[in-house]
Amino acid sequence: MKINDNIDSLEKYKISYKKSIQSSENFWDEKAERLNWYKKWNKTKSSDFVKGEIEWFIGGEINASYNCLDRHIENGFGNEIAIIWEGNDPDHSRSFTYNELLKKVSEFANALKDLNVKKGDRVCLYMQMIPELAIAVLACARIGAVHSVVFGAFSSDSLRDRINDSKCKVLVTQDTGVRGEKQNIFMKKNADNAVKETPSINHVIVVRRTGEPVHMDNKKDIWWHEAISNVSSKCKPEKMSSEDPLFILYTSGSTGKPKGVMHTTGGYLVYASYTHEIVFDYKPGDIYWCTADLGWITGHSYIVYGPLSNRATTLMFEGVPNYPDYGRFWEIVDKHKVNQFYTAPTALRALMKEGNKWVNNKDLRSLRLLGTVGEPIKEPEWNWYSRIIGKNNCPIVDTWWQTETGGILITPIPNVTPTKPGSATFPFFGIEPVLLTDEGEEILGNNVSGLLAIKNSWPGQMRTIYGDHKRFIDVYFSKFPGYYFTGDGAKRDRDGYYWITGRVDDILCVSGHNIGTAEVEGAIGKANGVAEAAVVGYTHDVKGHAICAFVTLMTGLEPDDMIYNQILDSVTKEIGPHAKPDKIHFTPSLPKTRSGKIMRRILRKISEGDFENLGDITTLADPGIVKDIISSLR
Ligand code: WTA
Repeated sequence: MKINDNIDSLEKYKISYKKSIQSSENFWDEKAERLNWYKKWNKTKSSDFVKGEIEWFIGGEINASYNCLDRHIENGFGNEIAIIWEGNDPDHSRSFTYNELLKKVSEFANALKDLNVKKGDRVCLYMQMIPELAIAVLACARIGAVHSVVFGAFSSDSLRDRINDSKCKVLVTQDTGVRGEKQNIFMKKNADNAVKETPSINHVIVVRRTGEPVHMDNKKDIWWHEAISNVSSKCKPEKMSSEDPLFILYTSGSTGKPKGVMHTTGGYLVYASYTHEIVFDYKPGDIYWCTADLGWITGHSYIVYGPLSNRATTLMFEGVPNYPDYGRFWEIVDKHKVNQFYTAPTALRALMKEGNKWVNNKDLRSLRLLGTVGEPIKEPEWNWYSRIIGKNNCPIVDTWWQTETGGILITPIPNVTPTKPGSATFPFFGIEPVLLTDEGEEILGNNVSGLLAIKNSWPGQMRTIYGDHKRFIDVYFSKFPGYYFTGDGAKRDRDGYYWITGRVDDILCVSGHNIGTAEVEGAIGKANGVAEAAVVGYTHDVKGHAICAFVTLMTGLEPDDMIYNQILDSVTKEIGPHAKPDKIHFTPSLPKTRSGKIMRRILRKISEGDFENLGDITTLADPGIVKDIISSLR
């Protein structure tokens, strides 16, 4: 199983990487052996990027829940901790051994079966980060039901649309939720509102998390604890074909109706499992913590499927980084002696902004590796992460990937790849990134930039958009035939390192130059006192387009000419005078989606003074921010 133990230098990475591309099928055959299959595949892959038809480990039979639970127990590790759950309040944590988790998963799987949930049926999970969410995910996988996790902060309308799109049969939720200061998130009430308009839902299962009174419909609604009160604690895993669906996960994309990204069983699990071990340098006995929510792909691949298939101890956190104070993450690392810590740059910036006093009184010596995902990490927070959190002693893996890719595609190999702050470095084994021109020509050589696409399939690749295969082809394959188009722009520097420059929709064109938002934001971030920046293009009489920057300062600082000039100097130095923003607005915060991505669409409107037509702002983590930004401009 330990394939990479012999890779201890960049040279060896390059040799192995080359091999993984040249004999890709042998490579993946070998990797797939890390899992237990009921029946071995007879063909490694078949992929057609014109028709969008992708299959891996064809003819193989496997069960994801078996691979995440039973096999470890059969190997004698049933008493090891599978999940450490840390609640919203600091004195509240629980843990589950593999034996305990298997029992709970089997019980809930039987409860679902009692409600007539069968292989292939869709089950919607609308919950906060409580242990039952992970249990429900694995229970669905056990019986071959397809889970669709809907992030617990979505409104009832968003929930309704996602349920209807994939016609879920059962909805699992909780009474109310707690998250940071918010002590009453009305999960069941939102679910009730949604279910009024979801004809496919036959039953709603409700976890009692807080004990707050909620309305229960005696025909439809069932308490979780009652649903499992009379069931067997054994449930035979369903034998699934490698290409049977494992889950659907909705991603909003930049515009339009949410896409139901569909992943299947065998290839996804091989990919999540293998990347988790290599990228996080995971060794048995390590305590691994990914701070993402299970409502996102990061939670699916790197809280549940990757870590548990590797017999990890995975930490699941219900709360937020600033509750009860800004030291919460580091307190948890200290309390549970976390070895690998994986988070988003947006969280790091929010914490960095509050100063080091929240970190200094914590013992972080257990940390061996730090990771980031979700957006480009800029040099200041990379350095802060490395020095203040990692004490200059932990490799940082800046991992680039997407909901659609199932797992990490571009990343350093820890302790092997020399890193550069802000670069996701090199492709993972078996992954062939290319940069394309607008016309779809491959750009060769180094020190170039273009549109990021992937040549050839990998096992974790999504298989379709649920119910809309045509859209799958249109979005990802039709623009550049023969490639999977990521929608991101990237630069390959003179050493061949990849730098993600942001979503292509966000590329700025100023006086004929193409400039990535991430590049300008990175340069602004280097000015003293800047906590975070977002840039957008707006229509300009002379230049066609000009750049407008929204800048948030470190807590306690006020904008002045010095900061203003430093920002301009930094952009000039890092990129060139053509990228200097024409307007700089200092704002209290930035509009972000619930997964922490800046919503530039809204800033674009604001920069053009069009405050009336901001479009849908309900998917923002905090819609109130928009008003604060507008009033800070006046
Ligand atoms: C962005 C999250 C720069 C990128 C796993 C991508 C990143 C989108 C990075 C996918 C990174 C993710 N550096 N940009 N390390 N990681 N992105 O689907 O634009 O929520 O296309 O998946 O996030 O976001 P998604």
